[in-house]
Amino acid sequence: MNRFAEILSGEISALEQQHLRRKFRSQSSPQGRTAVIEGREVLNFCSNDYLGLAADSRLAATAAQALSEYGVGAGASRLICGNMTPHLELEARIAAWKGCESALLFNSGYAANLGVISALCGREDAVYSDRLNHASIVDGIILSRAKLCRYPHNDLSGLEKLLAAGQEFRRRLIVTDSVFSMDGDLADLPRLVQLAEAYDCILMIDEAHATGVLGNTGQGAAEHFGLEGRIDIQMGTLSKAAGCFGAYVCGDRLLTDFLINFSRPFIYTTALPPAVAAAARAAVDIMSTDQARRKKLLSNAGLARSLLKNAGFDIGNSQTPIIPIFIGDDFKATALSRQLLEQGFFISAIRPPTVPRGTARLRMTVTVSHMAEDIDSLVRCLKKIFF
Ligand SMILES: Cc1ncc(COP(=O)(O)O)c(C=O)c1O
Repeated sequence: MNRFAEILSGEISALEQQHLRRKFRSQSSPQGRTAVIEGREVLNFCSNDYLGLAADSRLAATAAQALSEYGVGAGASRLICGNMTPHLELEARIAAWKGCESALLFNSGYAANLGVISALCGREDAVYSDRLNHASIVDGIILSRAKLCRYPHNDLSGLEKLLAAGQEFRRRLIVTDSVFSMDGDLADLPRLVQLAEAYDCILMIDEAHATGVLGNTGQGAAEHFGLEGRIDIQMGTLSKAAGCFGAYVCGDRLLTDFLINFSRPFIYTTALPPAVAAAARAAVDIMSTDQARRKKLLSNAGLARSLLKNAGFDIGNSQTPIIPIFIGDDFKATALSRQLLEQGFFISAIRPPTVPRGTARLRMTVTVSHMAEDIDSLVRCLKKIFF
């Protein structure tokens, strides 16, 4: 083995020994209630396709129409010659839906978090970040070189102490997931808005798992809490409930103007494929108007949470379709996920570093496509295997 191969295989086997090695499973079906995993059809309880739009025929038809009009690729970045009508129409549609002056597309939620935080903050600044924020937020802060001030999960008294102690910075940003991606609980946005106002901070929320899921018109947690117009920066993805790909950042026109000029992950990359932007616009139309779909999703999630709780599982403070089933031990979580797959249920085990040490879990996601019997049979099977 050469030296390079030795380095790589050493690191991989160290992970293997700690039961932390990651591997793909191959799926040969679209997203939906079921998935064909390694040739077998199983019930799918780990997709973020909350509203069942990833394989929706209306989105596919819109994408097909845009493919025939615009072709496959955007050809260049938005600022060169990749700024096509579907991008502009989608941004206008998102801004109108979210009641903001302006929206700007990014190529993924990951890129959006990197792009906003690193454009806005630098060495003289501080970013206040919940300990359980998504990795893309943490990476955005690292890239910005601002001081990272991490507060314990949802501990807003802890945050206030940090805010009161750190007045020396040029600019201060508070950033939080609105729905925490591995825990399914909500940030206390009303209190965060108060703190941001009291301490003169910029407030940014990541609505990745709230977009299409929360609020009367599916705008997200800001709408759920009645905080429209009081949050400086709202970011969300088009890859989860919207069933497509890409992300948006919305707020005042000055914000999007600023990002067009300073955000490197926006400037130095080819624009989203126009057919994806067209499909996402169709998804926004559905997400903003189809209340019945959202109601069924939330009722499925409520059913799953109550069955799991009644069966004696620890599901933390989940209030959304993301339901962690806490296991603790990394090996046990992986073994349970494997056993469930054998029994016909696809649920991933989530281990460190995605979640803190000692909190390995099965991350169950419920979608609108599930039937009550699916959820019931999963909980019965889990009970049999676990207890
Ligand atoms: C909270 C949160 N923010 C951002 C992202 C990244 O979004 P995307 O998958 O569009 O890159 C994710 C998930 O992937 C997420 O869970």
